Amino acid sequence: MLSIIIADASLELVPKEVASLATIKSIARTRGKKPEEIVFDISHLLPLKSEILPDQEKRGRPDVVHRVLLAILDSPLKFYLPMKVYLHTYEGRIFEVDVATRLPRNYLRFIGLMEQLLSKGRVGPKDRPLIKEMDLDLAALMKNIPSKRKIALSEKGKLLDPLKLAKEILSEDNVVIVGGFPHGDFSKEVRRIIDEEFSLCKEVISASAAICMLFSYLFYALRWST
Ligand SMILES: C[S@@+](CC[C@H](N)C(=O)[O-])C[C@H]1O[C@@H](n2cnc3c(N)ncnc32)[C@H](O)[C@@H]1O
Repeated sequence: MLSIIIADASLELVPKEVASLATIKSIARTRGKKPEEIVFDISHLLPLKSEILPDQEKRGRPDVVHRVLLAILDSPLKFYLPMKVYLHTYEGRIFEVDVATRLPRNYLRFIGLMEQLLSKGRVGPKDRPLIKEMDLDLAALMKNIPSKRKIALSEKGKLLDPLKLAKEILSEDNVVIVGGFPHGDFSKEVRRIIDEEFSLCKEVISASAAICMLFSYLFYALRWST
């Protein structure tokens, strides 16, 4: 079983520090919602002249989460390898994503779905939700996942032959952690659970590109490599 964690994901409802700003209020009004009921998108505040939120460079990028989720759920790897997918948000909320979820490709529809998820804690049928909130923190989630190693993907990690990395990941039940944010580093909460960090190339790449690369190596290792 491979468990994927999209960590510190840049997905949250509008934080209280910016809920009363005119631009946010106006966007919420056009959508028929209250400011705190809409997904926070930092582009709504651009151009930003100063730091108005803690960890501002990591927040308000639901497009990063959309792309990384599509990269995971679109991959044929799920047909070859049992997989669990978890979303750990900037605020520390944890959601389990059913790999059978057909995520909206349209960004605005994705945002609508995420607003439902963040306010109700689930999407999909009540008895069999496609994405549901788990009432635990990251440390407790780790105790629930039977895994040997918690491997983070990071440009600062050890660079090794990616096919070798893929085979190591497949050799036992492991957790792979990818950052669901655009800039900055993993939070302390995430750092605490990481055993090892591996890099896929010298450059900083997007989380979706990192997942696409890793999943291609895993698929190749499973399907073609002896
Ligand atoms: C845009 S990056 C965030 C950049 C951040 N400076 C960092 O520490 O990687 C989002 C995520 O993509 C993954 N990533 C970025 N570059 C990578 C690389 N060269 N190798 C493996 N994963 C990478 C990491 O999981 C990272 O948290």
